[in-house]
Amino acid sequence: MKFFIDTANLDQIREAEDLGILDGVTTNPSLMAKEGISGESNILKHYVDICEIVDGDVSAEVISTNYADMIIEGEKMAELHENIVVKVPMIKDGVKAIKYFTDNGIRTNCTLVFSAGQALLAAKAGASYVSPFIGRLDDVSTDGMGLINQIREIYDNYMYDTEILAASVRHPMHIIECAEIGADVMTGPLSAILALLKHPLTDIGLEKFLADYQKVNA
Ligand code: G3P
Repeated sequence: MKFFIDTANLDQIREAEDLGILDGVTTNPSLMAKEGISGESNILKHYVDICEIVDGDVSAEVISTNYADMIIEGEKMAELHENIVVKVPMIKDGVKAIKYFTDNGIRTNCTLVFSAGQALLAAKAGASYVSPFIGRLDDVSTDGMGLINQIREIYDNYMYDTEILAASVRHPMHIIECAEIGADVMTGPLSAILALLKHPLTDIGLEKFLADYQKVNA
């Protein structure tokens, strides 16, 4: 399973990259705003800065909601760097835009996906990635992981190339369950990735190994 980090924070992206396990980055307008990035030129420059840190796909989200403007915006983003993937919302014009981008060699990530039907449409339009939001479904008492399962089954039935990018991941158990189901990618915060490292028996075991070493090597 590929590991993407879901942030626009350059320090966190560098930290995940330094760990050696990072395969890509996803951003969205909220994450860009959180870093105080505003204005078209600053936003585009920030995507380039991210691409220079990570050798992997970087999702850059359009803010237009009509077909014509999505195409202009997405084409501009795709020209920034070969690793840019244009992130397009699951709306009617978005599906049309994904089809256009696919036909024109521009890779896409269909975002804000909350149902199997939406995921099926994204695959039929040729999206490179589909982003079901697990955490936000869990937030409204709906089984986010169940949706990943459903999409996996549908995509496998028809051998769609669209990769399942489990998004809105909030904690390490989300990551583990995604891997069990066979999501192609998960995108989550640095905290969830680093939490995978932790086990109390690892800490206790290491402390004992070092203490035993010191006993004879002091
Ligand atoms: O980038 C999309 C998605 O991962 C958002 O996550 O935590 O805001 O629901 P979250």
